[in-house]
Amino acid sequence: MPERVRITEVGPRDGLQNEPGMVPTPAKAELVRTLAAAGVNEVEVTSFVSPRWVPQLGDAAALCELLAADKAAGVVYSALVPNERGMEGVLEANARAGRRLIDKIGVFTAASESFSQKNTNASIAETIERFRPVVRLARQHGIEVRGYVSCVIACPFEGPTEPLAVAAIAGRLMDLGVDELDLGDTVGAGTPESVGRMLATVLEALDESHGGSAKVTLHLHDTHARAAECVRVGLELGIRSFDGAIAGLGGCPYAGTPGARAPGNIATAALLDAVERAGFSHRVDRAKLGEAAALAQRLVGEARAGAPS
Ligand code: HMG
Ligand code: MG
Repeated sequence: MPERVRITEVGPRDGLQNEPGMVPTPAKAELVRTLAAAGVNEVEVTSFVSPRWVPQLGDAAALCELLAADKAAGVVYSALVPNERGMEGVLEANARAGRRLIDKIGVFTAASESFSQKNTNASIAETIERFRPVVRLARQHGIEVRGYVSCVIACPFEGPTEPLAVAAIAGRLMDLGVDELDLGDTVGAGTPESVGRMLATVLEALDESHGGSAKVTLHLHDTHARAAECVRVGLELGIRSFDGAIAGLGGCPYAGTPGARAPGNIATAALLDAVERAGFSHRVDRAKLGEAAALAQRLVGEARAGAPS
């Protein structure tokens, strides 16, 4: 049997955060349920960030109320959290659901100071300090923690990132007590060579006590149609967990530059193709994933049509 790879669907979060229009909350819930039914291992359902910063996801609490009714067994629901306030939002959502609806949170920082400031109004060191109470609360409530590092290949404001800078931030997050690392090529600048170099450097730095490649997820944006090749390199280096976004949606609203909107994530279907081509398997039902892609495209189309021009 080919070895199975873990697939996290970040479309409802990364996919919708950069859309010009609002997708209605019940439609988001339908999208999450359709993705879960397709068999992905995890769905990143939303963000508990400031609605002033990301209004598209300002309905996180209302969405969780809708999702509480019928969460499928065997799928992890996760949500982004930037600070203690966001963590309290997650705990309230779980309390209202009467169970652990959100199983995992994602804290996020960067390997670039400029991006950290633009995205979170804080230096890298300040973001790490913000995460301390978040990780403590997560531990107390049995919630897992994913630690994102953005700009692992390049920063939209500072240019190329040194692999050693990524390894340093990764180490700080592991020391803080995150359960896993998610390495984000935020602007999709990666090539097989640069992603390979970055991963090799990070994995060398993560000694056995940190769990090595088993702790690492790769989060690729697909600007130049090279993300699938980078998935292959990740697999060769022992990575067995990848993020994708339904229909290739996605992008960080704070990674755009005047000439360029932030690029979408690798489409989940393209991610599965790359995984299969490399001789690995997954548990996703392609037909159901196709239904989810059609739904996502319809919802985003309707939201764009209704967005102010
Ligand atoms: P700030 O403005 O410095 O913070 O933002 P503040 O404490 O002054 O708060 C501003 C307002 O937001 C206040 O409200 C707070 O109460 C409220 P006001 O008094 O003005 O009415 N607030 C909150 N509300 C709800 N939930 C919260 C929260 N926190 C404060 N958690 C902050 C700092 C971190 C909050 C802000 O910068 C922020 O929310 N940033 C998030 C940006 C974001 O979501 N970016 C996209 C996700 S990262 C990404 O896409 C990359 C990734 O995909 C990986 C990759 O591709 O590389 C993960
Ligand atoms: Mg992203």
